[in-house]
Amino acid sequence: MPLLQADQLRVDLRTHRGSATAVRGVSFALERGDTLGLIGESGCGKSMTALALMGLLPDNARVHGSLKLDGQELVGLPDRDWRRLRGNRIAMIFQEPMTALNPVHRVGAQIAEPLMLHKGLAARAARQRAVELMARVGIPEPARRADSFPHQFSGGQRQRIMIAMALACEPDVLIADEPTTALDVTVQQQILTLIRELVAERGMALVLISHDLGLIAQNVRRMLVMYGGAVVESGPADAVFRQPAHPYTRGLLAARPNLAQRLRAHRSDRLPTIAGTVPELFALPPGCPFAGRCPFTEHACWSEAPPRVDLDGAHRFWCRRAEAVLDAPESIAAGA
Ligand SMILES: Nc1ncnc2c1ncn2[C@@H]1O[C@H](COP(=O)(O)OP(=O)(O)OP(=O)(O)O)[C@@H](O)[C@H]1O
Ligand SMILES: [Mg+2]
Repeated sequence: MPLLQADQLRVDLRTHRGSATAVRGVSFALERGDTLGLIGESGCGKSMTALALMGLLPDNARVHGSLKLDGQELVGLPDRDWRRLRGNRIAMIFQEPMTALNPVHRVGAQIAEPLMLHKGLAARAARQRAVELMARVGIPEPARRADSFPHQFSGGQRQRIMIAMALACEPDVLIADEPTTALDVTVQQQILTLIRELVAERGMALVLISHDLGLIAQNVRRMLVMYGGAVVESGPADAVFRQPAHPYTRGLLAARPNLAQRLRAHRSDRLPTIAGTVPELFALPPGCPFAGRCPFTEHACWSEAPPRVDLDGAHRFWCRRAEAVLDAPESIAAGA
């Protein structure tokens, strides 16, 4: 039984303009030690997927499909049961540490809190553990700094503190949604190295979300490429980067031809924009979400869901025009 298994996870949002589907059937399975990347342009549903995994969706959202942790169904779980899991078995690192940190509480107490809440540690033991965690994430003089407030730390240090808090209860699953976007490049690298080390050291499963191709390529073994709330391609990250199949993935990579060099130079890079814009959720066709931007689109692409096409290994993509796409040189497939 997988540690975490999503099966056709769907998120519908009720808005004043009617109902829209922000996540259209995301499936994956994670074991301990697995690292999964979610990539795609802004608005493609990455954060909605992350929030669904944390039971933190907004009130206007409805979740369908299945999400299981050690076989236990989490879709439809009452709030009080989610509170027992969140920060305990599943934890999340956000882009902006101040969304997770309380500005008026000392950081040591904030790291200690989940330990008292979930693990029943006494205040003293929890504080001791908090100081150890601060040391582990690289905060100098942790015993003294535990009494400081969030604003007394740099942005990179605040991110480290949020990581310490997320890790306090030794969760099984760690979700990191754009964990380093707000940081400068050298600090980004340090934080990602720290996350990678901790995930390996503790045997957690990691879901890393980014629109930064280089960051995903360097830090995960498997990836899902999302577009318009749907997964359009998935597989081992090296296979997807080496032989991108879906026209959308090809577009992303073709617009970044020097990615390989940059990866070797260990620098991350922003996702380029490709022709056209991400359609609004309400305007998505019932068929393939990419139909409006794809150079291969034929009539049926608009109305019928694209079939799954299996490539080598667990590499697959969803496309009605797979034969034509795979026959075409990558540059044409990218619409470049
Ligand atoms: N509370 C909400 N109510 C209605 N629609 C929402 C709400 N929050 C987000 N959306 C919409 O859901 C879609 C998916 O958003 P999501 O935040 O998951 O994108 P994302 O992939 O994380 O993008 P980014 O890279 O910008 O973080 C977007 O079209 C967004 O406008
Ligand atoms: Mg997001």
